[in-house]
Amino acid sequence: MTNDAGVPLPIDVREVRHSYGEREVLCGLDLSVAPGEIYALLGGNGAGKSTTLSALLGFIVPSSGSVRVGGIDPAADPARARAQLAYVPESVALYDQLSARENLDYFLALARAHRSPDTIIAPALEAVGLPQHAWNQRVGGFSKGMRQKVAIALALARHVPVLLLDEPTSGLDPRATLEFNRLIETARDRQVAILMVTHDLLSAVDVADRIGFLANGRIEEELAAGTGSVRFDLNALHARYTGTRVAA
Ligand SMILES: Nc1ncnc2c1ncn2[C@@H]1O[C@H](COP(=O)(O)OP(=O)(O)O)[C@@H](O)[C@H]1O
Ligand SMILES: [Mg+2]
Repeated sequence: MTNDAGVPLPIDVREVRHSYGEREVLCGLDLSVAPGEIYALLGGNGAGKSTTLSALLGFIVPSSGSVRVGGIDPAADPARARAQLAYVPESVALYDQLSARENLDYFLALARAHRSPDTIIAPALEAVGLPQHAWNQRVGGFSKGMRQKVAIALALARHVPVLLLDEPTSGLDPRATLEFNRLIETARDRQVAILMVTHDLLSAVDVADRIGFLANGRIEEELAAGTGSVRFDLNALHARYTGTRVAA
């Protein structure tokens, strides 16, 4: 799908089916994320959330349907598709012996991206709010929240249009979760399309523009944030997620 100007959506999944052996995990999945949008993908264990990310990353080839990242089919051209995106797994892989600055420099070099210390790397670390005293410290001693900051600084420095996050707030305390939410808003403000797989309803309610429930291999329900102070009804979401009823 394209927008009015004919530009492809950054994340666009249409009628995707995927099986592992006999077991069909995705059964007609439709999912799209626009520039400057945060989409929270919820679903129980084994629902197919990571499989969805794998399809966007080109790690699996769906049996049918279409997957596009910035208009590119990751199954056909994984390198070009991955050049459009930053993927932040649950535990961020960095070089523990290198500092935050050195990690950025190294990964930007790998991505063949511009990597000026003053005009690219420092502003990216600044934008994600990594304290300056930590910039030259080895990341081996960093908390999960700080490692995520480095990963997202890298995404910002690469100017990728797509950010994929797998359970980014699991194991973060509530304050670090809030900080993380503000962090991805920085990416949203830069028109990045953000797909966040999460079990964290509070985080989703706080930051998402849309929330989708993945069940039975497809998006069973999708909710858009309301305007005003109540963006989503947390109690109703919790009841929907757990299959319980909301108290009247
Ligand atoms: N490589 C694989 N081979 C076989 N089955 C898999 C593989 N990866 C995932 N699965 C199965 O597919 C289903 C969906 O997995 P996954 O996408 O990881 O779910 P989620 O991330 O929502 O917990 C699960 O039943 C899981 O056991
Ligand atoms: Mg998973």
